[in-house]
Amino acid sequence: MRLFTTIAGIRCYLQQSHPRCSVGFVPTMGALHIGHLSLIERARAENKLVIVSIFVNPLQFGPKEDFQQYPRQLEADRDLCATAGVDAIFAPSAQEMLAQATENPTQVIPPQQMIEVLCGKSRPGHFQGVATIVTKLLQVIQPNRAYFGEKDAQQLAIIRRLVQDLNIPVEIVGCPTVRLESGLAYSSRNQYLSELEREDAVRLSQGLFIAKKNYLQGERRSDKLISAVADRIGLAKRIEIEYIELVDPVNLNPLSTVEESGLLAVAARLGSTRLIDNILLKDR
Ligand code: PAJ
Repeated sequence: MRLFTTIAGIRCYLQQSHPRCSVGFVPTMGALHIGHLSLIERARAENKLVIVSIFVNPLQFGPKEDFQQYPRQLEADRDLCATAGVDAIFAPSAQEMLAQATENPTQVIPPQQMIEVLCGKSRPGHFQGVATIVTKLLQVIQPNRAYFGEKDAQQLAIIRRLVQDLNIPVEIVGCPTVRLESGLAYSSRNQYLSELEREDAVRLSQGLFIAKKNYLQGERRSDKLISAVADRIGLAKRIEIEYIELVDPVNLNPLSTVEESGLLAVAARLGSTRLIDNILLKDR
């Protein structure tokens, strides 16, 4: 497995050593866990070459967010990638990725209505930062397929829209959320949780599963589905709910009832840790 820290280096590797073979790309911020590995495995199964990027993107963190504290563990990530059969890691410095010829570089701004709902409300600028870095990474790697988790459903919807609107020739592959046996979705931020917080955190997925059960039994009203989640979480005093919303999975418009499908999403704080989760409500 190769590791590149420069754009010129990874481009040279891709162009000279591996022209014309299918490239699967998994963008990450590192601190890799089983959720990330599921994306890598899928990429491994579907492509000749698998590239993983590891870059903690400062553009997507707000001034009061955990950019400094975000876990950085390149050595462990490297071992995991090697075992998973990754061909090359691209791990640029912020200088390499973001130092521009201009002081005021071009940013990619997703559609307003997609960035002002759900996480966009409490994280102004976040999805602009994600969209900008993902566009840059796709330009550098130029993969045939790029893999993203449904765990970050808003991010996935925005990236699908981005490649469509900007005509980026890549297939975006959405991969199911990987969960612990308790139901808690794997997240790099789970390592911030105390034992007690971790016990409470399972209520997020439990609430979503209850809502899904109600949905499958015929409930279509948004307020009822949302309150099923709220009721389950509400019992835990260590959880502060940021939002529970039901939106269209493609354009993220709020729904009052579910017609074909709905994305039921939740964000909550446990102490200083912010967790998100979601479930797709669809008959099949
Ligand atoms: P990061 O949080 O490291 O996640 C990298 C990818 O792993 C994302 O597509 C995310 O949805 C997926 N992922 C995380 N937890 C998962 C789980 N439990 N099951 C399935 N997939 C999971 O998302 C980012 O990084 C960044 O915003 C990035 C796209 C790299 C841009 O900086």
